[in-house]
Amino acid sequence: MTAHVRLPRIAVPDDAGRRAFLSDVIAGLSADPKQIPPKYFYDERGSQLFEVITRTPEYYPTRIETGILTEQAGAIAGFVPTGAALVEFGAGSLAKARILLAAASVKAFVPVDISAAYLAGEAARFSRELPGLDVLPVVADFTAPFVLPAEIAALPKVGFFPGSTIGNFEPHEAAAFLRHAGRLLGPGARLIIGVDLVKDPDTLTRAYNDAAGVTAEFNLNLLRRINRELGANFDLSGFWHRAVYNRDLRRIEMHLASRVRQRVRIDGHCFDFRRGETIHTESSYKYTPDLFRTLAAGSGWRLAETWTDRDGWFAVHALIMA
Ligand code: TRP
Repeated sequence: MTAHVRLPRIAVPDDAGRRAFLSDVIAGLSADPKQIPPKYFYDERGSQLFEVITRTPEYYPTRIETGILTEQAGAIAGFVPTGAALVEFGAGSLAKARILLAAASVKAFVPVDISAAYLAGEAARFSRELPGLDVLPVVADFTAPFVLPAEIAALPKVGFFPGSTIGNFEPHEAAAFLRHAGRLLGPGARLIIGVDLVKDPDTLTRAYNDAAGVTAEFNLNLLRRINRELGANFDLSGFWHRAVYNRDLRRIEMHLASRVRQRVRIDGHCFDFRRGETIHTESSYKYTPDLFRTLAAGSGWRLAETWTDRDGWFAVHALIMA
């Protein structure tokens, strides 16, 4: 059998993409408190910085989730029907899928990611490594509706959503995502999903504020991207990265805080910042297994199994469409 890799359908951010970015940024900075959707972190540099974050000593989720996937590979592969299509939502790095694909007998692999450049490189490398697997990358924002490749229509479908990316949605958005994923994958589908667990605030805040400053650089890169792609005039030295744990909402919040009173211009719009005022750039919700079971059940998924590490820091859940 020969491997097959199809090139992503969209190679460069098109004009519609730029317009959507601009209008999201204008709307977000006009809101009170100011905010910008986290999906815009992932230009090429953002994706690369995120890879570096996952290797910092403080950022435990990637290491622990990878450990769970490796140690429980056999049990997890038991949830993947033979000849299935594995659809990975937000396949920024394919290292975790590689573990699953080595343990299960998958026919087609569909990485879905917003970063066309990143996906093209990774997907090509991937299909060289795993000859015989059909690699069908889809460039899409998985928070909006998209279409699966026709080639996998007849195959059993298994969604894969590692990295606790579900935690970056507001709870109502997380519920909507799970509902849409269920509809996209169809009746009888399964979903393997990694979710970070509630734990002590010190460990959590350290994970999002590494000593080497990579997370800070990642957060500030959003302003650099807005300057480059939308012609804004953010002074990066006028903002600093701030991560706080909100205990009531069980979420880490990342902010860009203004060091001074200042005004920023974007495409004819002016935005004033008070000293200390922040742009909320991301939340990372943490779930206990029970809270996650309830969230999934509300979106039509039955929690079939949960694997965690010894310390109970991270969970990999297997869901089945109810
Ligand atoms: N979803 C993961 C988390 O919330 C990874 C992640 C997304 C992240 N954005 C991030 C990690 C920004 C650090 C900084 O942990």
